[in-house]
Amino acid sequence: MPNPSHIRRKKGLLRYTLDQLLLVDLIRFVVVGVRYFWFVHVRGRLSTYDVNTDVQTPIATNTIAHNLKGLRDLAVNRSHMLVRPLSVLETLDTQARILCIGPRSEGELFNLAAHGFMLKNITGLDLISYSPRVLLGDMHTMPFPDDSFDAVILGWVLAYSEDPARAAREVVRVTRNGGVIAVGVEHNPLSQEDIIRQVGYLPGASKRITSCAEILQLFGRAVHHVYFNHVVAESDKDRVGSLCVIFSIAK
Ligand SMILES: C[S@@+](CC[C@H](N)C(=O)[O-])C[C@H]1O[C@@H](n2cnc3c(N)ncnc32)[C@H](O)[C@@H]1O
Repeated sequence: MPNPSHIRRKKGLLRYTLDQLLLVDLIRFVVVGVRYFWFVHVRGRLSTYDVNTDVQTPIATNTIAHNLKGLRDLAVNRSHMLVRPLSVLETLDTQARILCIGPRSEGELFNLAAHGFMLKNITGLDLISYSPRVLLGDMHTMPFPDDSFDAVILGWVLAYSEDPARAAREVVRVTRNGGVIAVGVEHNPLSQEDIIRQVGYLPGASKRITSCAEILQLFGRAVHHVYFNHVVAESDKDRVGSLCVIFSIAK
């Protein structure tokens, strides 16, 4: 991301200032909350992707039901883990076309705008949507032509795929050569059996992604340069944490 005066020039002073207010988690929460109320309760726009059960789909079984319960996490502070490092990469411009897969609410999109990217160039794609900024769709078969985006962000979404390598191939397809991919997944010290006991069902895919190396492996030869690697330290392995990788691709 270029320096702040460049962002100010590109966005204009008013837009730049308003977007910067969204850096404050509480303000972002209120803005996203008001829009949530408007779109969900006044306009009745909440809808979910029609998972055709006749077709073999790699979407994990409880994905939509589980994430509908988490829809109120409106500021999505966790997205800082990917958005902040993404926002300082010199290779990405203010005007970068960004695809945000699995944002759930608008919080992640507004967080990207707060960090300098143009809101009009940010597209969301999710199995759940109430927002005109988030298209309903499945990351395994996306409704975008090849090379449509300069950056794709997958925040805590790959873990809902029973075939993450297929999702990764699809992500590479829609990302331009030299573009950037940012992936975050949860590290959880509990076994899948313990999680089922605790939650009552399995919230994600049957096989868990357990390391940053595993994330990179999914993208295989497309991985060009790794900018950011957030691993869970050995001493923190018994707590819930985050595995995050940001890399460019060559194709
Ligand atoms: C745990 S939420 C992540 C929300 C936010 N990105 C964050 O970091 O907290 C996962 C989101 O991914 C979406 N999702 C799961 N599988 C998907 C798929 N196959 N295609 C598109 N979105 C998917 C879910 O509907 C949900 O909104």
